[in-house]
Amino acid sequence: MTALHKILSISDFEREAKKRLPKAIFEYVRGGTEDEASLNGNRAVFDQLVFRARGLRDVSTRTQAVTILGHTYASPFGFAPTGVNAIVCHDCDTKLATEATRSRLPYIVSGASNVAIETLAKLAPHCWYQGYFPGDRTRIGNIADRLKSAGVQTIVVTIDTCVGANRENNQRNDFTIPFQLTTKLIGSGLMHPRWLLEVFAKTMFTTGTPRFVNIYETMGPSITENTTDGFRAGRDRLTWEDLKWLRERWAGQLIVKGVMHPQDAELAAATGMDALIVSNHGGRQLDSAIAPLQALPDVVRGVPATLPVFIDGGFRRGTDVLKAHALGAKLVFMGRPQLYGAAVAGSAGIAKVVDILRTEIDRDMALLGCKDLSEVRADLITARGAPDISPASLT
Ligand SMILES: Cc1cc2nc3c(=O)[nH]c(=O)nc-3n(C[C@H](O)[C@H](O)[C@H](O)COP(=O)(O)O)c2cc1C
Repeated sequence: MTALHKILSISDFEREAKKRLPKAIFEYVRGGTEDEASLNGNRAVFDQLVFRARGLRDVSTRTQAVTILGHTYASPFGFAPTGVNAIVCHDCDTKLATEATRSRLPYIVSGASNVAIETLAKLAPHCWYQGYFPGDRTRIGNIADRLKSAGVQTIVVTIDTCVGANRENNQRNDFTIPFQLTTKLIGSGLMHPRWLLEVFAKTMFTTGTPRFVNIYETMGPSITENTTDGFRAGRDRLTWEDLKWLRERWAGQLIVKGVMHPQDAELAAATGMDALIVSNHGGRQLDSAIAPLQALPDVVRGVPATLPVFIDGGFRRGTDVLKAHALGAKLVFMGRPQLYGAAVAGSAGIAKVVDILRTEIDRDMALLGCKDLSEVRADLITARGAPDISPASLT
C-alpha cells in the first residue's frame, strides 16, 4: 500500500481508495448516473478556462481566509454533505466533523449521515445541516426543532433529489440502499480484509449496523432496513412554497443546494435564502446536466451581489477553486475527495486532503499575483483557445 507521504494529489487519493475499498463501495462514492455525462462534464469544464497571471506584485504575505455569513474560514473550500459515510471509514462523520473544526473549514452534515447531529454539532459547532426534506411541513418543522435544540444554526435544503437517481453502476455492483448483503458483496469484502476488519467489523462491534440517525426528528432506520414509506418518500412534493414557509419559521440561516437555473437562483433570492449552492449533486442525479462551473456566471448575475453563491462538483485542485472564485463563487465544496482521504487513512487522510488543497491554493495565489481572495477576479481567467491569427490581428 502506498504510504501517505507518497500521496501528492487528490487523484492519488482516488487511486489509492480504489485499492482499499470493496468495488461496490468505491463505485458508490466515485460514480455518477447513467452515462456519467454530468460527472465527466463537471471535470472537463475546468480545462476550458485558463489563467493569465500577473507578475511582479508583492505576494509575500498571503491569506486565503474568507468571511461568509458572519463566520471566518481559513480556506475558501469545505466539505459537502455526503450520506452513508459509515461504509467508507469507521466513524467517518465524527472524523469529518473533527477535521473541519481543526482546519477551520465549512462543513455540511448530510441528512443521510450516521452519527447523531447532536454529537456532530458539539464537535463542529458551526456545522450546517443538509436536509432531504419531504413535502410535509410537519416533518420539516419537527426536524427544524431538533436542529435548533442541537444548536445548529444553518439548514441547507437539497433541491435536486426529488426522486432517486438511476445509478446503473450501483445496480451492477449489487449496491442498494437499503443495503443488502449479497454473495457478490461478501466476496468483494473478503478481498479487502483491511476494510472488512477496520470498517465493517469495527463498526458492527461498536455501534452496530449504521443508521440514518439524522433523517427524521427521531432515530431513522438502519441502512439495511426497508421502511414502509421509504425515507425518500414525499420529496417529489417539496416546492418553493414549502421553503417560503420554512423561511418564516426558521430564524437561522437557510441555504438551497442544487441550483442550476438562473430563475431558481432568482427564486432563492426572492424566498429569502441566505446563500445558494450551484450543484448537480456531483453528477449523481440528472445526467447530461450543465456543469456547475458553466452554470455559475448566470447564477451570479441573476442574484443580488449581497447573496453569497457557493458551488460544488468536480473540484480537485487549487486552480479549480480559484477559477470558481474568479467567477464569483465565495465558497467551493467537495464531496468525494475527503471520502477518499478517509478511506485511505481515516483522520490523517482527511487532513492530508485538506492540506494538499490548501497548499495548492496558497501557491497558485502567489503565482497569480494575488495576496488575498479579493484579488482573484475574472480578469485573471480567459477561455482556452488558439491565438487569433487573422491578418488584421497580426498587423
Ligand atoms: C458518496 C456521496 C454521497 C453524497 N450524499 C449527499 C447527501 O447526502 N446530500 C447531498 O445533498 N448531497 C450528497 N452528495 C453530493 C455532494 O454533496 C456534492 O454535491 C458532490 O459530491 C460534489 O461533487 P464532488 O464529489 O465532485 O466534489 C453526495 C456525494 C457523494 C459522492
